[in-house]
Amino acid sequence: MGFAIIQGLLAAGAAEVSATCASSQRAELLRSRADNGLNVVPVEEHPDANRRVVADAELVVVAVKPKYVPAVLADIADVLPAGATVISVAAGITVSQLHEAVPGHGVIRAMPNTPALVGRGVTGVVLPDDLDEATKRLAREVVATLGAVVEIREEQIDALSAVSGSGPAYFYLFVEQLTEAARRLGFDEPTARRLVEDTFIGSAVLLEKGEASPQELRRQVTSPGGTTMEAVAVFETGAWADLAERAYQAAIEKARRLV
Ligand SMILES: NC(=O)c1ccc[n+]([C@@H]2O[C@H](COP(=O)([O-])OP(=O)(O)OC[C@H]3O[C@@H](n4cnc5c(N)ncnc54)[C@H](OP(=O)(O)O)[C@@H]3O)[C@@H](O)[C@H]2O)c1
Repeated sequence: MGFAIIQGLLAAGAAEVSATCASSQRAELLRSRADNGLNVVPVEEHPDANRRVVADAELVVVAVKPKYVPAVLADIADVLPAGATVISVAAGITVSQLHEAVPGHGVIRAMPNTPALVGRGVTGVVLPDDLDEATKRLAREVVATLGAVVEIREEQIDALSAVSGSGPAYFYLFVEQLTEAARRLGFDEPTARRLVEDTFIGSAVLLEKGEASPQELRRQVTSPGGTTMEAVAVFETGAWADLAERAYQAAIEKARRLV
């Protein structure tokens, strides 16, 4: 996720982005994949990498696994410049935990999703009331480099994570299942993938045009008494509305257990 953010910032015209990672190997990979303008310092080579990199930062994005967030913030807290703001994308780390870790600094929670890698993510962002307008504007600009932005209250972040954070996995699961079923109808793997994936991608483009709702687009394919109607009726026996709600609830409950 950190790399998606780096790429988004560079693509949006940031002159220079400074980043850290744990291993030298990852640093090499990041340097080879990013455009010019990326300065990466691996902790493996420079144990003070995080302290160095934040020393003149206005905005610090923390994108390590949640369990490492307390140690990383404890390490940088005393060298963060006055007025620097911390954006955390870590699941389960609350605004109040962030405030405690970097007292006196503005903090923001953001929950992106993996299409951020191609600038087409959707990110939920919590902008606490104590932030000034200029900081909020800067944070919105940074997050917008990942795609769409939805401002939410912190109480909504586990639900947003269940819907859009994990959402790409639900989509790919459906693609996998339909591809496997197409193979069982006798199509070879490349053909089955082409049929399913291009159907989804094309349908998403139609949806994005915004000229019709999903219901209307579905109706356009579903002639009364036709073949699509038969297939849709079979899907409906899976009680999808209930299934979706139960899946979301399971993700929300897990997020609460993680805190
Ligand atoms: N993946 C998603 O869809 C998603 C969505 C929303 C939010 N998030 C959040 O994003 C965060 C990162 O998730 P991820 O999936 O991107 O994990 P990841 O691939 O493991 O990336 C974590 C990065 O942190 C680096 N790192 C570890 N310890 C460090 C330290 N002490 N100082 C500096 N860098 C350090 C790692 O470096 P090395 O590679 O060298 O080990 C790695 O590049 C998590 O908090 C997660 O909750 C992820």
